[in-house]
Amino acid sequence: MTELMHDHLPIHLTNLAKRYGNIYRLKCGNTTMIVLNSSDIIREALVKKWSDFAGRAVSYTADIVSGGGRNISLGDYTEEWKALRRLVHGALQRCCKHSLHNVIERQALQLRKVLVDYRGGAVDLSEDFTVAASNVIITLVFGKEYDKSSSELQQLHRCLNEIVALWGSTWISALDTFPLLRKFPNPVFSRLLREVSRRDEIIRKHLNQFKSEGHRRTDVITGSLLEGVDRHQTEPGVVLTDMHVHMATVDLLIGGSETTAAWLNWTVAFLLHRPEFQTKVYEELCTVLEGRYPKYSDRQRLPILCSLIHEVLRLRPVAPLAVPHKAIRDSSIAGYFIPRNTIIIPNLFGAHHDPEVWSDPYSFKPERFLEGGGGSTRALIPFGGGARLCLGETVAKMELFLFTAYLLRDFCFVLPDSEAPLPDLRGVASVVLKIKSFTVIARPRTGP
Ligand code: HEM
Repeated sequence: MTELMHDHLPIHLTNLAKRYGNIYRLKCGNTTMIVLNSSDIIREALVKKWSDFAGRAVSYTADIVSGGGRNISLGDYTEEWKALRRLVHGALQRCCKHSLHNVIERQALQLRKVLVDYRGGAVDLSEDFTVAASNVIITLVFGKEYDKSSSELQQLHRCLNEIVALWGSTWISALDTFPLLRKFPNPVFSRLLREVSRRDEIIRKHLNQFKSEGHRRTDVITGSLLEGVDRHQTEPGVVLTDMHVHMATVDLLIGGSETTAAWLNWTVAFLLHRPEFQTKVYEELCTVLEGRYPKYSDRQRLPILCSLIHEVLRLRPVAPLAVPHKAIRDSSIAGYFIPRNTIIIPNLFGAHHDPEVWSDPYSFKPERFLEGGGGSTRALIPFGGGARLCLGETVAKMELFLFTAYLLRDFCFVLPDSEAPLPDLRGVASVVLKIKSFTVIARPRTGP
């Protein structure tokens, strides 16, 4: 238990790997956990032996936040889960093909406008990044977008953020490990219940609105999901319900907002530490794009920008421990026997700092991903892999590319003044790895 209570668990688990090797076991109450710390070992479990390790632990608290396991991220590997993931994956693909590029472009331009309106003042950009990333996923899911002052957007963020933060806290996980504690008052748990019911109220309102309109808008994910569930009713076997649509919507909203926003904050922070690299990216954008805004199809021609994206994903994978997997049958990893029901923690942060794979692993060096730099994107696994591969990988990759390209084409990010401290790069680790808040000036570029 004490091993799991460290304030920065990914760093602590990575340090334990120095002592015990890239695969080791932790025991907590009745639960056995295996921590995997290298990309080869993680790939063996998640990709090569995906069907052995595709499960999720069923627990008292996971059931509460996931509507009884009826969501994607926390649902165990069952026929019902497979049908739901297939349905959501299909809806997401269709909707992305239809509109993703345009939706991100619109949000990137909106973000540009917000930054210009700051007129060179020092600001914390985290909320603006969250609004931009959330609006992408909210547009895909509900077909609407909000501005920063919208009380509904603020309410939704507050409760989704709270749920993620509270669920990651030891006060809550202790209830799973020591069931006796459930008999005692627990204010943190009461807060979690309150936020879950607030979340459900907001989502229910949207879904009811959709249903009252006859949910004919299949260009929007919710419409597509509701239609898919109706179609499913007529097929034999698994039954999917509106509750599955409700929980899948929550999955997409949580997965789609804090992750991308956290990553954008990290990028700005690292660039403040290495301003000359920011200039390199800008010069590349000017030369290749000749003044126009980028398209996702330009990425092969922008290797310096892509090296920046890879390096930030390497150093700060925003879901540093993925979501714990569970062995659904007896199996093995790296030659060790792994019994059924063992919890598997893929330490993506550790794999991205493995000194056997990365030279000078703790330094920010995007150049390692340029030709001759020695770094290989094959050893990067920020989105996990196999049956549980991040469902939003396509959305996230396009967002990271377009948002970063738009921002660095139009702005130079500088410290508020020459005496201001550089952002602290250690971060705060929960389910999502975030940077501590910092202020920055987004100075509009005037030309090459
Ligand atoms: C930089 C951005 C992102 C990163 C680094 C990231 C990373 C991850 C990781 C590591 C996992 C766990 C994989 C595992 O359990 O092995 C995951 C799961 C998931 N992500 Fe993402 N993610 C990002 C953005 C998104 C976006 C934009 C969405 C939604 C559109 C999303 C939706 C999900 C969902 C639904 C799951 C659960 C998948 C499952 O359990 O089958 N993520 N993500």
